[in-house]
Amino acid sequence: MIDRCQRDIDYIRISVTDRCNLRCVYCMPEEGVQWVPHNAVLSYEEILRLCRVFAGLGLSKIKLTGGEPLVRRGMDRLIADIKAIPGIRCVTLTTNGVLLAQQLPGLVSAGLDGVNISLDTLNREQFRAITRRDELDRVLAGLNAALECPGLNVKINCLPMGRNDDQLVPLVELARERPLSVRFIEVMPIGLGKELTYRSEDEVRAMLEARFGPMEPFHGRLGNGPCHYFSLPGFAGKVGFISALSHQFCSECNRVRLTSEGFLKTCLQYELGVDLKALMQDGRDDAFLAEAVRQAIYNKPLQHHFADTSGQEALEHHGMSQIGG
Ligand code: GTP
Ligand code: 5AD
Ligand code: SF4
Repeated sequence: MIDRCQRDIDYIRISVTDRCNLRCVYCMPEEGVQWVPHNAVLSYEEILRLCRVFAGLGLSKIKLTGGEPLVRRGMDRLIADIKAIPGIRCVTLTTNGVLLAQQLPGLVSAGLDGVNISLDTLNREQFRAITRRDELDRVLAGLNAALECPGLNVKINCLPMGRNDDQLVPLVELARERPLSVRFIEVMPIGLGKELTYRSEDEVRAMLEARFGPMEPFHGRLGNGPCHYFSLPGFAGKVGFISALSHQFCSECNRVRLTSEGFLKTCLQYELGVDLKALMQDGRDDAFLAEAVRQAIYNKPLQHHFADTSGQEALEHHGMSQIGG
């Protein structure tokens, strides 16, 4: 679907739950998380119904996120059902990896096309300090299991935040022998992300190039997202950057988001969009839903203003775990 800025919107990120089995410092407080009540979360039937509506409008790529999507039971069934919808070409998952090894066989047979694993450090103590849980071993088991699945696209997401500066080189080393993309995401000023040290793409590149030498821009496509990639000589995998602040990519944005409560969000930074759950509860039919989605997408904001949030209306007040990243 084309929006009013002539962008082709063909990708939707669907948050299946706001629950999580980690408590990353940039995403959730240690205690006292305000959970979405269970009855406010979209049921699988509602998600599937909306996916059929989205597919009818040309949204063909679906990313399942959370919170942590794998804490919700039956993800394999959901993936298989979404993949069966005519017009859906690609279903991928972004996970913290803790439950991945045990669920991977079911997810892969359901037709999962790719998995992104959040991993900010390979140091156990640091992992425990950042995520407030001692789960590094299970995440690494999930990563290794994913790399053994033929045809599964595997990526790592790391947030450089100062305290893990010493881990950026070891994380990139993971891509030396294996066809894995290691991606560095600039911390966005959303929720607890506002409290974090910000490392720009240029700072991270300088740290990596000091160790590995110059990186070559890679022009091939490696996914559906805003990441741009580099090759390193002798490496099987790539290094990527998602630099929403220093290299704003809004003019090429191809996506919208569905929160776990069924709100279609048309830009990460704003509370703009349409409450699809409310429309379903009001008994609206699929044609009505499709028109509401079409209008919301058409009016998708031109760009975010992370750098200057003074005096703006409609700024997002939800945290990343409710939005799904
Ligand atoms: P693939 O490469 O196709 O797997 O997609 P992706 O990079 O969109 O997936 P992932 O879920 O791993 O997202 C990685 C990070 O990119 C998350 O922190 C997202 O919040 C961020 N991100 C994804 N899309 C956007 C976007 O449109 N705008 C901004 N500012 N950040 C985004
Ligand atoms: N800025 C950028 N990325 C974030 N994530 C969580 N919070 C932020 C933030 N404030 C990332 C996680 C995960 C992805 C879904 O979102 O690291 O990889
Ligand atoms: Fe959970 Fe992801 Fe938030 Fe960490 S960033 S607490 S893994 S939802």
